[in-house]
Amino acid sequence: MSTPRPAAVIVLAAGEGTRMKSSTPKVLHRIGGLTLVGHAIRAARETGAEHVGVVVRHERDRVVEQCAALDAGLVIADQDDVKGTGRAVECGLEALPADLSGTILVTYGDVPLLTGDTLVQLTVSHQESGSAVSVVTAHLADPTGYGRVVRDAQGRVERIVEHKDATADELALTEINSGIYAFDAQVLRDALAQVGTDNAQGEKYLTDVISIARDAGRPVRAHVIGDRLQTEGVNDRVQLAELGRELNRRVCERHMRAGVTIVDPATTWIDVDVSIGQDATILPGSQLLGATSIGPDAVIGPDCTLTDTEVGAGASVTRAVTNLAVIGDGATVGPYSFLRPGTRLGARGKIGGFVETKNADIGEGAKVPHLTYAGDVTIGAGANIGAGTIFANYDGVAKHHSVIGSHSFVGSNSVVIGPVDVADGAYVAAGSTLTQDVEPGEIAVARGQQRNVSGWVARARHGTATAAAAAAAQKAGERHPSPATTTAEGDQP
Ligand code: UD1
Ligand code: CA
Repeated sequence: MSTPRPAAVIVLAAGEGTRMKSSTPKVLHRIGGLTLVGHAIRAARETGAEHVGVVVRHERDRVVEQCAALDAGLVIADQDDVKGTGRAVECGLEALPADLSGTILVTYGDVPLLTGDTLVQLTVSHQESGSAVSVVTAHLADPTGYGRVVRDAQGRVERIVEHKDATADELALTEINSGIYAFDAQVLRDALAQVGTDNAQGEKYLTDVISIARDAGRPVRAHVIGDRLQTEGVNDRVQLAELGRELNRRVCERHMRAGVTIVDPATTWIDVDVSIGQDATILPGSQLLGATSIGPDAVIGPDCTLTDTEVGAGASVTRAVTNLAVIGDGATVGPYSFLRPGTRLGARGKIGGFVETKNADIGEGAKVPHLTYAGDVTIGAGANIGAGTIFANYDGVAKHHSVIGSHSFVGSNSVVIGPVDVADGAYVAAGSTLTQDVEPGEIAVARGQQRNVSGWVARARHGTATAAAAAAAQKAGERHPSPATTTAEGDQP
């Protein structure tokens, strides 16, 4: 038997979220690299529901834009001036096909830890029990603020009373309404038509559907959930951080159970869409963000921030910041490297300490080991870029691309002023300022000739410690000639 699927999931996201004190709508705040409403949409989609609707109102256009970017197939429902969760669901239903039958789930756009699995379990138990309404509840030590579940003498769910409408006895109840439900579509429609606004907040409460359905003789039940954090909403920045940390803890746990070593989950932050291969090791202080993927046996960290970066099998990345970069199998990066968009490092290649790269295609086994800026450059396989080399790619107007051929060698402290094409198997002498192409097998020497002026120190720095040192060294040299000074003229040292 295939898993039963809900006909629709309606995600409520019209509320204002004033306690966030933010110019960004609450549901667009992020944890784990995804907006709060994005988490709700993901979970809804995982049920396989035919329709997923989002009810919007506050900052409507911004919320719709972000939701549509994540999921083009969403049904957008606009809530009108009538307030309350009941009205929100009614507006959601109006945007869905009028003849919809079967199970309709309702969730919130600000409850980010709820999983698709939980919604599937809710749907299954709702349908198997033949219920008209299943409300997800939890037992909380401190139920302040939540709607309380009132049960009858037989222990069956009778109604839900909002905190603001509750009596002292009702406030003492610790079973709370999570705000997540499964409804029979027809029962939901019929009951909502009867819900009024005669309550402490003057709102159309979705919770009233429960007593209305029960009074109509329809079976209502509670679906008690043990993992109460899955039902917890974000109301302010403190809860945003708490649920963000909890989500991260869960993501880290999932990777560890799948065979990834995470030395310190407390200082490791992994976005929900990151993939990590088996036997990879993540060292403390690392952030793996966006669509980053880490190959098996790779070692990341300590102290890395990798965004939308692909790391190959067995590669190692230490104290680096990378963005939209591809790091090949067995390659090494860091420490203290900055890989900007368009960096591609070939298999077993190296980007070393204090190196910045951008639009840099670095071939297999090629090395850029120390203190280099490599922007807009193609570096061939096995090439070696000496310490301190700068690819001067920008003339103030346009960017220019340079090429270093495979197995070529650029001497330390060179400036390659783009566009320059150094062929395969060529050399550039250290300290060169390169402006012209170099052909295969050539060495380019592009620097001033060295000129030594003897006696300069004695003349121009007379009386200094340097002059004294020079005089002493010259005297000693006369007494104990060094091998270099005894080389006969014309001999090759
Ligand atoms: C609601 C429940 C309460 C439950 C609590 C769980 C009702 C009447 N009360 O209370 O029993 O314990 O959730 O968190 O349902 N929303 C809209 N349109 C509206 C009002 C709200 O879309 O007009 C959305 C909000 O954006 C939010 C969700 O519905 O995502 C819940 O709204 P909120 O105001 O937090 O509900 P509570 O009053 O806390
Ligand atoms: Ca709330």
